[in-house]
Amino acid sequence: MIVGIIGSGTMGSGIAQVASTAGCKVKVFDTNQEALDRSKQALEKILSRLVEKGRIDQPEKERIQNNISYVNTLKDLKDADLTIEAIIENLEIKKKVFSELETYVSEHTIIASNTSSLSIASIASSLQKPERCIGIHFFNPAPLMKLVEVIPAVQTSTQVTDKVVDIIKDWKKVVALAKDTPGFIVNRVARPFYGESLRIYEEGLADIATIDWSLKTLGGFRMGPFELMDFIGNDVNYTVTESVFEAFYYDPRYKPSFTQKRLSEAGYLGRKSGKGYYDYAEGAVKNAPKEDTELAQSIFDRVLVMLINEAADALFWNIASAEDIDNAMTKGVNYPKGLLAWADEKGIDWCVNMLDKLYDEYHEDRYRCSPILRKMMKEKRVFFNKTDELIS
Ligand SMILES: NC(=O)c1ccc[n+]([C@@H]2O[C@H](COP(=O)([O-])OP(=O)(O)OC[C@H]3O[C@@H](n4cnc5c(N)ncnc54)[C@H](O)[C@@H]3O)[C@@H](O)[C@H]2O)c1
Repeated sequence: MIVGIIGSGTMGSGIAQVASTAGCKVKVFDTNQEALDRSKQALEKILSRLVEKGRIDQPEKERIQNNISYVNTLKDLKDADLTIEAIIENLEIKKKVFSELETYVSEHTIIASNTSSLSIASIASSLQKPERCIGIHFFNPAPLMKLVEVIPAVQTSTQVTDKVVDIIKDWKKVVALAKDTPGFIVNRVARPFYGESLRIYEEGLADIATIDWSLKTLGGFRMGPFELMDFIGNDVNYTVTESVFEAFYYDPRYKPSFTQKRLSEAGYLGRKSGKGYYDYAEGAVKNAPKEDTELAQSIFDRVLVMLINEAADALFWNIASAEDIDNAMTKGVNYPKGLLAWADEKGIDWCVNMLDKLYDEYHEDRYRCSPILRKMMKEKRVFFNKTDELIS
C-alpha cells in the first residue's frame, strides 16, 4: 500500500514512521524543504536510538527508512492509496490542499485529515467525492501513543470507514470510532481535567502544587493538570479549550479560564518558555504541596466526577461506544483507568450525588448531571459488567 503524508511537522513525521514501520511505502510532502530535511534527520535519530537500545536491528532501521521518500510536489502523491494530511490547523488552507490533491489521485484514494479541532464534514466538502474523506486523528508522539480516533463525516461511505479501521489496526493501533463533533472523544472528555482544576485554584480552595499532588497521589495520573498544561503549552491548551467552548455554542461546562488566558497573554506558556504555572529556571524552587489528605480527596473527587460526567455524556450523545470512550482516555492520554470503568468502581450513585451536591452549591449549568448517569442510578445499572461486557 502507498501512503501519502501531507505536512512533515511533528505529526506528519510520526505518522510516516508508523506507516513505514507497518510495511507501507510512504511519500512525505511538505511545502517547506527545511521541514522535509528535519523530518528525515529526526527519523534517523529516532531509529538509531532504537537500534542502540536493541529495540530494532540495523536491517529493520534501513527497511523503515527505505520505505519513506520525501517529495516536493503534491502531484507526487498521485499513486497513493491513502493520504493523511497533517498541515497547519486552518480550514481554508486544508480545503485548498484537498481540492488540489483530488485532481491528482485516483478515484479510489482515501483522503484523510489528522485535524484535532476542525469538522471533517467541512473539510470533506472541498472534495468532488466527499465520501472518500475521513478523520484519522493520531496522538503525539504518534509512534508511541496507541490510540487513533477514526472520524467518519456525514458524507463518508461505510466502505471507507471500514477500510480505514482495518488499516489502522494493521498498523498496530487501537481504534476509537468517534462522531464528527467538537474535540471528538479525547479533546472533549479531557476538558475537566484542566477546567475543574483551574476552577478549584481560582476559587482559592488549593494552590497548584496541592492540586497536582492530589491528582497524582490519589488518582494515579502521571502528571498533575498544571504540570500537564505547562507541558502542552498554555497557549495551545487555552486555544483548544476556547475552540471547544465556541463549538459547543458556549456550553458553560467548557468555559475557558481567565487564569490560563492571562498566563498565555503574558507569555508564560509553560516549559517551552521557561515559566508557566511553575518556574522552570535553573535552581528554581517548587512550592511544596499541602499534604492534607482530606483536602486532596475533595479535590480529586471533584475533578474525577466532572471527568466521569463528561465521559458519560459523550456516551449519552452517542459520540462513541463505552469501550471506545474508555480506550480513548487510557490509550490516547495515558489515564490510569477508563472513566466509565472508574464510575462503576466509585458507584453510579456516588457520581450522581457528587454532581448534585456541586450543582446545589453553585447553581451553575456546568455541574448538571448527565441524564445517562441519573437513569442508570434509577435502574441500578453499570457501564460494564464483570466480564467487561457493556450492559448499559
Ligand atoms: N501536535 C499535536 O500534538 C497534534 C496532535 C494531533 C493532531 N494534530 C493536528 O495535526 C496537524 C499538524 O500538526 P503538527 O503539530 O504536526 O504541526 P507542525 O507545525 O509541526 O507541522 C505542520 C507542517 O505542515 C507544513 N505545511 C503547512 N502548510 C502546508 C501546505 N499547504 N502543504 C504542505 N505542507 C504544509 C509545514 O511546513 C509544517 O512542516 C494539525 O491539523 C493539528 O491540529 C496535532
